[in-house]
Order: sequence, then C-alpha cells, then structure tokens
Amino acid sequence: MSQKSFEDLIARVGADFDATFTWDYDRDGAGLDRLYEKAKRAQWNVSDDLDWSTDVDPERLIRLQAEESGIPPGFPARALAEMDNSPVASWTEDQWVEFAVHSQCASLSQFLHGEQGALLVAARLVEAVPAIDAKYYGATQVVDEARHVEAFSRYLDEKMPVTYPINENLRSLLNEVLRDSRWDVVFLGMQVVIEGLALAAFGFMMGTTRDPLLKEMLRYVMADEARHVAFGILSLQKVYDDLSSGELRERQEFAYEACDLMRRRTLNPELWPTFGVSNSEIESMLSNTRSQQRFQHLLFSKIVPNCKKLGLLDHRDGWLRERFGEMKIIQYEDWSTDAEELTEASAVDPDN
Ligand SMILES: [Fe+2]
Ligand SMILES: [Fe+2]
Repeated sequence: MSQKSFEDLIARVGADFDATFTWDYDRDGAGLDRLYEKAKRAQWNVSDDLDWSTDVDPERLIRLQAEESGIPPGFPARALAEMDNSPVASWTEDQWVEFAVHSQCASLSQFLHGEQGALLVAARLVEAVPAIDAKYYGATQVVDEARHVEAFSRYLDEKMPVTYPINENLRSLLNEVLRDSRWDVVFLGMQVVIEGLALAAFGFMMGTTRDPLLKEMLRYVMADEARHVAFGILSLQKVYDDLSSGELRERQEFAYEACDLMRRRTLNPELWPTFGVSNSEIESMLSNTRSQQRFQHLLFSKIVPNCKKLGLLDHRDGWLRERFGEMKIIQYEDWSTDAEELTEASAVDPDN
C-alpha cells in the first residue's frame, strides 16, 4: 500500500498580519461577555454526548428518507434526468440512491474541511482581535471548531463509505480569509459568509436525515455555530460604525466575492466525475434547474439579513443590494427572524 508523504498531506497558507496584545483587561460587560459565559457553559464532548454505537446504513436511510418525504433520492440534481440529452437520463433507482449517498458524503466532507478552516481562522482571530473579551470568546470558538472537525471526521470515517477532498472554491475562500491582514475582513468572511452558509446547510441536512446520530450531532454543532455568527455580528457592528466610506465599500465587495465563490461551490464539482459525468456537461444544465436554484438560494438565507444588519446592503447607493438582486438572493434581506433565532440560540441580545 502506498503511503502518502507528510508534505502531500499538508497545505500551507502564507499570511502577513499583526498578533495583537492588549493591556486593557476591562470587559465590556455587555453582549460579548454574556456570549463568552454562555459558550463556557455550553461545551459538549463528541466522545460522551453522542451515541457512536448507532448503526448507520446510508443506503437504507436514503430510501427511508425518500419514502417518508416523498422527495426522490438525488434531489435536487435529479431534475436533470428529465432534461433533453441528459447524461443521467438512463440512471436506475439504485444508481440514484448510490448518488444520493455520495452526495451526502460530499456535503459532509465539505463540512469537515470547512470546520478545519474555521478552526484555523478562529485561532487567527484570537491573535488578531484587539479587545480582551473578543480574545476570550474567540478562544472558546477554537475549542468549538476543533470539536466540529473531530465530529465530522469521526462520522465520515466510521459511518460513511468515502471522504471527498476539499472543494476548490471553498479552499480559495478559506485561503483568502486566512491571508487577509484586516481582522474585520477575516470576521466577515468566516463568521458571516462561511458560517452563515454552514448554518443553512447544516439545518437542511438536519431536517432531511433519518439518522438519529447525525441529527443529534448537527443539532449540537448548530447551537455552537449560532453563537459564532452572533460573535461576528456583535464584533463587526462596532467596527463598521467607524469605517470610512471607502473602507465599507471594500467590505461590500469582499462579501459579494465570497458569496459568489460559495455559489459555485454548491454545484458539487468533486462529485460528478465519480459517476462518469463531466462537470462541464453538468454545470450549465444544473444551474438552470429550478430545484437546484431554489436549494442554492436558500443556502444564502442567513447571510443576506446579516449583511443588512451590518449596513452593507445599502451603502454606496445599494451596491451590494443590487449584486444580491442579480444573484436572486435579495428576497432574504428581511428574514429578520434569523437574527432573533441566532440571538435566541446564543441567549444574547446583540443590541444590548
Ligand atoms: Fe464549526
Ligand atoms: Fe463556527
């Protein structure tokens, strides 16, 4: 058996940023403080709090899920089977079930790699943020993210047939975030865009899976992630009040580019070649199916209202509003319950 060398198994990202000490140990006594207290109490253990003896048969679970929901295996990609000259027109039910299992593996794999990105970014935030309470809270996020990597890695390893490599779009966004010397941009990329997308994707999987172990795991992870997004919003609201118009403009552009990269991620390009279908064949067809578009748009339902809350939508005559309009995701701007939902989950009032 060939053994991969150490160098094949790691990837380095060069960065130029300041590690920041603060000699001001006073805490703000408000949102971040309470979020930190909540985070310390809400710690859980992957080994003890999840029932790893649960028997997971991915194919049986996919069939069960289809039976109970009435949604056929392979949704939303399955809509492709109905299209003219479709490369998947002749797929049997068994093939769709196999595809659905792999599709779940591909999603879980991106969750895993994204969580490792979050682990590195959270560690970076602890070094870079200037305020002591943000360093305290950030340290709890480091532990949270390590636990998430552990959970997804163990689930894929013990319960699923395959782990896919990191998606190129996700990798380039993570690299960009890790390279940026402006800590608020690191926050925006990680805590608002990547975590927002992850929350929506976790929620979607939690709602559909029939595996009680995965459901419970996602429930635990989502409770942590909701705090992380709240951390991002709380920290950025203060910073954005003091930024110049030009600096805010850069943040708008960054948010748009990050969302655009993540939109391309949702097509699952690492998955199709496994099934003998090339990405070029699938890309234009899949982006035009209504079910794929609806699914893809829903993933942005947590990001858009948070960008609005940060004042990024309407700055510069609504530049970002227009871009999100073109991406057909602007309809989520007033999903105001999202902020409350996050706040509730973390038991913190961000306006306080
Ligand atoms: Fe996480
Ligand atoms: Fe997170």
